[in-house]
Amino acid sequence: MTHFLDIDKTDPADLRGMIDQAAAMKQARAGRPKGAPDDEQPLKNRMVALIFEKPSTRTRVSFDVGTRQMGGQTMVLSGSEMQLGHGETIADTARVLSRYVDLIMIRTFEDDVLLEMAEHASVPVINGLTDRSHPCQIMADILTYEEHRGTIAGKKVTWCGDGNNVFASFAHAAGQFGFDLTFAGPETLDPEMIFVEEARAKGAKVEIMRDPARAVEGADLVVTDTWVSMHDSQSAKERRHNQLRPYQVNAELMSHAKPDALFMHCLPAHRGEEVTNEVMDGPQSVIFDEAENRLHAQKAVMRWCLGV
Ligand code: CP
Ligand code: NVA
Repeated sequence: MTHFLDIDKTDPADLRGMIDQAAAMKQARAGRPKGAPDDEQPLKNRMVALIFEKPSTRTRVSFDVGTRQMGGQTMVLSGSEMQLGHGETIADTARVLSRYVDLIMIRTFEDDVLLEMAEHASVPVINGLTDRSHPCQIMADILTYEEHRGTIAGKKVTWCGDGNNVFASFAHAAGQFGFDLTFAGPETLDPEMIFVEEARAKGAKVEIMRDPARAVEGADLVVTDTWVSMHDSQSAKERRHNQLRPYQVNAELMSHAKPDALFMHCLPAHRGEEVTNEVMDGPQSVIFDEAENRLHAQKAVMRWCLGV
């Protein structure tokens, strides 16, 4: 079964193939209305279940639209409205859904839920974000970087802020795509070292720094994310804000990166917190290309999962 669970669990040649196919599919439908079908209909007669146990705008809409553009159909399922949210096991849910649909995408809390779904499903399962990682996002980010600046291999990416699930997928990607990654944040919010060590073992240079200005020196890409993720306790909000305030991405911080450095944020953003309006709406920002590319990247991920 070809699941898309994490970037570090996927063969680098396959990852490269998905990025290249996404770019080609994007170009092939340039200028068409969003609801127009692609010339190729690889998901014709395929049914896709999109399960959300957390809120979503981009993931939900891009998977839905992408499936339809490729000729497939979707059903969007809220975890709380399924029996899954009321005591049915993940394994039984996976077995049952596999009798109805050809592909399952799930956004959930613990990574173990995703892994159990994949273990018991007889159709491919895609990770639409867990507390641990967000691989579809980083596939879109690689596509976005490369369409603006060429190959990401050998480039320097600096992450400012919380060592969270999106950072983890950047660390996975550093190992697989061969770029350098610097984390700038407070020690209390460091990423799990396993992500860093595994990327280093694959040859990526990964640094952990406390000084944000030094961390972005020479960066080709500066990235941040919310200071409080969906899985974080709201009671920790004020403490996190206090710890992370020095890592806000603002024009002054961007001035330490390369002059042509890009800025990315997976969105949703909290303007004025982790990033200023000046950077969000400035010339280095590619945040809306990044959001659009969720669509194109995930179309390639779905095709790869289904082998079509
Ligand atoms: N970036 C991202 O995954 O956005 P949503 O939470 O809106 O899906
Ligand atoms: N780190 C954020 C990403 C949202 C797309 C979260 O998990 O809430």
